[in-house]
Amino acid sequence: MKETTAIAHPNFALVKYWGKKDSKQNRPAMSSISITVDSMQSKTKISKNTLSNCHRLFINGVEETDLSKIFPSLFYLSEISKSDDYIVIQSENNFPTSSGLASSASGIASFVTAYDAHYGMNLGISDRIEACMLGSGSAPRSLIGGFVLMDHNNNYSCTQILQKEDWPVDVLICIASREAKKISSREGMEISKRTSPLYQDWLGSNERDISLALEAIREKNMSGLEKVTEKNCNFMHEVMKTSKPSIIYMNDVTHSCVAEIENLRASGHKLFYTVDAGPQIKIICDPKSTNTIKDTITHRTDVIDIIHTRLGGSPRIIDEN
Ligand code: DP6
Repeated sequence: MKETTAIAHPNFALVKYWGKKDSKQNRPAMSSISITVDSMQSKTKISKNTLSNCHRLFINGVEETDLSKIFPSLFYLSEISKSDDYIVIQSENNFPTSSGLASSASGIASFVTAYDAHYGMNLGISDRIEACMLGSGSAPRSLIGGFVLMDHNNNYSCTQILQKEDWPVDVLICIASREAKKISSREGMEISKRTSPLYQDWLGSNERDISLALEAIREKNMSGLEKVTEKNCNFMHEVMKTSKPSIIYMNDVTHSCVAEIENLRASGHKLFYTVDAGPQIKIICDPKSTNTIKDTITHRTDVIDIIHTRLGGSPRIIDEN
């Protein structure tokens, strides 16, 4: 039986998306800039379901009963492929799922890539972006490697700012908890949009943060990128906190990592952090400082694990035979 497998990597936003313009089409209300990482990956296999008349989805070997997140992407794709197959989707992550590590972005991007290849569709980038975005607003960024801009003023085009080789920073993902998050990004964004008094200012700050980050990335300016990334991250967490009910993703371990990062910076190391909808802290650093940072964070905080990775590339089809 024909099976097609694709791998895609997660991406982490430096300038973040938090809030949707349109929740039906799942359109972000702002632009974002991200890095795609290496070594962490989602691997998704597609085959025809020859046993029953339904689509089936397995994540890390466990069958999901709720397919509502994948259906909009699947229906968009099957409309173009004209296939009426029922399919089996088997997706595996080599990192914790649903805990602020962008598993839905890499999961959806690997699914779209595998489906496109399975049905020989040869889709252009704009259809792949659309198919990904219907599944998760941050997923289109995982279609591209290195530093990526997703521009909401230009029909959500995703473009590469720098290739991974152009600025080979290291990325350290500090695992502060393995628990799945209690409030999904999707729910959290809706709450913030409706209730946070800071939401309009947050929207208003996006364009400036995007242009500051673009400039810093193009100049490979670590301290410039540090300032805009940390400011943007902390503003997003203020928006979350001032929502009603208040949404708090950071925990004590996250805060102790931030304190250590500030100490390391004061002693001359080049690094900065970002935190998404979960307590995990992502450190972007000069590879010369990686070992010192790992040792310091391991010995002086309660992080459970540190995943050391670099910048990654775009999704690819793999041959499993
Ligand atoms: C905090 O893309 O996971 O990571 O579109 O509802 O699937 P959905 O949300 P998602 O939200 C990402 C939020 C973020 C910031 C970012 O990655 O830009």
